[in-house]
Amino acid sequence: MFHYEKKLQFPVKITTPNPKLAAFIISQYGGPDGELGASMRYLSQRYSMPFAEAKGLLTDIGTEELGHMEMVAAIVHQLTRDLSDEEVRANPTFAPYFVDHTTGVYPTAASGFPWTAASIQSTGDVIADLTEDLAAEQKARLTYDNILRLSDDPDVNNVIRFLREREIVHFQRFGECIRLCKEKMDAPNIYLSNPAFDKTQPANTRSRG
Ligand SMILES: [Fe+2]
Repeated sequence: MFHYEKKLQFPVKITTPNPKLAAFIISQYGGPDGELGASMRYLSQRYSMPFAEAKGLLTDIGTEELGHMEMVAAIVHQLTRDLSDEEVRANPTFAPYFVDHTTGVYPTAASGFPWTAASIQSTGDVIADLTEDLAAEQKARLTYDNILRLSDDPDVNNVIRFLREREIVHFQRFGECIRLCKEKMDAPNIYLSNPAFDKTQPANTRSRG
């Protein structure tokens, strides 16, 4: 279960509306490498992890990503609240989003593709899942880098830099975790068996009769 704290992990206080920027930043809410996907990926993968340390890490990071999702939603909301019709008309980048969602916060990529579970995996294989998680953190960091290239609002950029830092920390923690899991697994077989599933015999040595 979760306990909700009515505050953000890092404060979001945006003074200048900017629907064009919101149309880019929404990607870290519902895009292929965004915070919704990160939280769903880790909170789903945790169940099949055979080691307590990996299960705990995925739960910790998955929960933190829910908090990041909330921060990205707050940025998008604060950049788009109280817009006039004229401001929407003057921002063709935001207008397609506006047509479908007005100024509601909706999980979609900047390209307009709605969030899909097809952008994440949960394989039940320790090495496959943790390797995906390492890549996911780098892709999220890169998306934040791209947002920083497109934004010159310091109120936004302070928050984006905080989120970017957390992706780097998560990458490091997943790196430690994958090393630990390999140590705990039968080293010669780490790429050939999954201790969560192949309880008695690695898949590659099983006779199919
Ligand atoms: Fe992350």
